[in-house]
Amino acid sequence: MISGDGAMRDGRLFEAFLNRHDEDAWQRILAELEPHIHEVDRVATRIWFHFFPLSLAQALQEAEDPQALARELFLDGKYRLADQIDSSHRFLYGHRYWPEVKRALIEYAQSPRTLQTLELAGHIREVASHVAERRRIEPSLVVGITAVAFMTLQQVGWAAFEAAPGTIALDPQIAARTPEEVLAYRARDDRQRFFYWWKYPDKVWTITFDENDPEATFRLINRQHLTTAAAQDKRPYHLRDPRCVPNEGPIPVQCRSGSCGSCWVGVLGGAEKLSEMEEYERRRLREFGYIETEEPKPIIRLACQARAFGAVSIVIPPWNGVFGRFLRKWKQQRSMELTGTP
Ligand code: FES
Repeated sequence: MISGDGAMRDGRLFEAFLNRHDEDAWQRILAELEPHIHEVDRVATRIWFHFFPLSLAQALQEAEDPQALARELFLDGKYRLADQIDSSHRFLYGHRYWPEVKRALIEYAQSPRTLQTLELAGHIREVASHVAERRRIEPSLVVGITAVAFMTLQQVGWAAFEAAPGTIALDPQIAARTPEEVLAYRARDDRQRFFYWWKYPDKVWTITFDENDPEATFRLINRQHLTTAAAQDKRPYHLRDPRCVPNEGPIPVQCRSGSCGSCWVGVLGGAEKLSEMEEYERRRLREFGYIETEEPKPIIRLACQARAFGAVSIVIPPWNGVFGRFLRKWKQQRSMELTGTP
């Protein structure tokens, strides 16, 4: 049996092991894990890793004055994982298994035998297998959320991770949905009802912005920008996310012209039913630091630049900022320090 001190020491050793992995290493690990992640969480896992970039968390941790840096990078909202250890991944199907995943990772990290193998993807799959065995589910359902748990531990540190309650608040009816049901419902195009023809000038689609909340949808008239459609939803979203502007809907907006970065979203389903990204949106996403990609319809978009031609399921991140240029420089300096290059 491991003593309390021994368990804590092993947990910290595991944290030190995790800290040997930078963002590039994690990219490779995610690519290796992707075929083992159930379809229901494959895109969601990638979105989560875009929402909570490791290098930004490290830069903030290493900053002399993290708050000053956050101001310099215009970080707004809940950008620290430490403030949302049990909830940042609510949009993953695997979120429903979070209490077991968190517990299993803590036990695993405290086992003295754990670090005998040094390959991170293997550790993630092993913890996922333990959880799957206990819950009698397919391991693929928990590989994504387990990867999220490892990254959360790396970013928040052992003490905070262990201290988090590990509880979730999910409606039992939602929690009972099978992955097949979630996939069948996700971004399913609406039947065009008779009264739509009378009320709207074109086809009408449902945009879902929280698959765990049946009320979290708004209507979009064919070819509208996501933010234009969202602004028709007059519910008081500013009361739960201060970044939201009263009467402008659930997506935070400041400029509607691709300048501020507040409207970024992850696209869980229906990415193919959004307009292709123009060069301007691509460049702005890179400048904000959200994603660098040549894909015409990527999983991260600026909602004020993307038009929809069908039902889409999106995720609204809890924060926004402008950190692309800063992080590129920060990573360059870091790699020069590590390699000893002047
Ligand atoms: S609202 Fe400012 S970038 Fe979209």
